[in-house]
Amino acid sequence: MKILITGAKGQLGQELIGILKSGRAEIGAISESYAGALVTAADIEDFDITDLKSTRSFIENAKPDIIINCAAMTNVDGCETAREAAFSINAAGVRNLAVCAKEAGAKFIQISTDYVFSGSADRPYCEWDVIAPKSVYGASKALGEKYALSFCDKTFIIRTSWLYGYEGKNFVKTVRRVLREKGKITVVDDQRGNPTGANDLAYHILKLALTGDYGIYHCTGEGECSWYEFAREIARLSGYGEEAVIPCTSKEYNSPANRPAYSCLDNLALRAGVGNEMRDWRIALGEFISKVKD
Ligand SMILES: NC(=O)c1ccc[n+]([C@@H]2O[C@H](COP(=O)([O-])OP(=O)(O)OC[C@H]3O[C@@H](n4cnc5c(N)ncnc54)[C@H](OP(=O)(O)O)[C@@H]3O)[C@@H](O)[C@H]2O)c1
Repeated sequence: MKILITGAKGQLGQELIGILKSGRAEIGAISESYAGALVTAADIEDFDITDLKSTRSFIENAKPDIIINCAAMTNVDGCETAREAAFSINAAGVRNLAVCAKEAGAKFIQISTDYVFSGSADRPYCEWDVIAPKSVYGASKALGEKYALSFCDKTFIIRTSWLYGYEGKNFVKTVRRVLREKGKITVVDDQRGNPTGANDLAYHILKLALTGDYGIYHCTGEGECSWYEFAREIARLSGYGEEAVIPCTSKEYNSPANRPAYSCLDNLALRAGVGNEMRDWRIALGEFISKVKD
């Protein structure tokens, strides 16, 4: 089996590579079908997904059976002012990969986001709910979903949220750094979602990739919280008093991008299909904080 991981240097890409190498995720062992798999890890230095010619040439050469696209422009505020780059990477780049996956006969796994939803729901969003992004990032990822589904018939869209992994930058590491440097941090308390460990997500991606059950999936940590509650738990697990985290409103925080107030996802399609083994966000976070080196 040949697997191509794009955006391989990012948080999720690194987690997938580590799990494929060791055969184990924190949740448990991955399928023995992956033993001996040839994994090609590619990032922008290898080929730029926005360039169809080099994407096609790389994929024709690698001949993957499965393409897992972890490449994205993930800076939500940055996307507001760099709309063309957001479109190129999160939508046109996905189209290029989907077209080449189709040509190669490969399965295509596209990672998407809770930010495709508006956030006005009063219960977790499931896979058939209508999307209505509020930010450029969300809109570009939504178009990426559409392109992936239109151009490759062997597509999985896997939406996740509030992701953190051992490599790369994320909210958990930022909170710990700010607490180390300043002793306190102010965090918004009026946006709710599901913190998700990249290790748990990667395990489920690899489970789905062995099936032909193409379609849309939600894959997030179980349980919900606000960013403030998430930060308070990070502080507690890292040995700081909970008073080190100060709540504020989104209006007070005043970020460039408009974010959904409620973007919790229900892992319904996973439960109905390969099974939902995603851990409670507090359990996964506890293991992460006991192991992370930052
Ligand atoms: N992070 C989150 O909280 C979150 C939440 C929901 C969904 N997601 C989705 O989950 C997926 C993985 O996210 P992540 O946090 O692992 O991302 P990440 O750490 O930002 O990694 C993305 C990788 O893609 C690379 N890349 C960017 N533009 C590229 C291009 N044109 N061609 C090839 N590679 C390119 C980046 O390189 P550079 O670093 O050099 O730009 C980086 O190595 C993404 O689809 C993201 O939208 C993330």
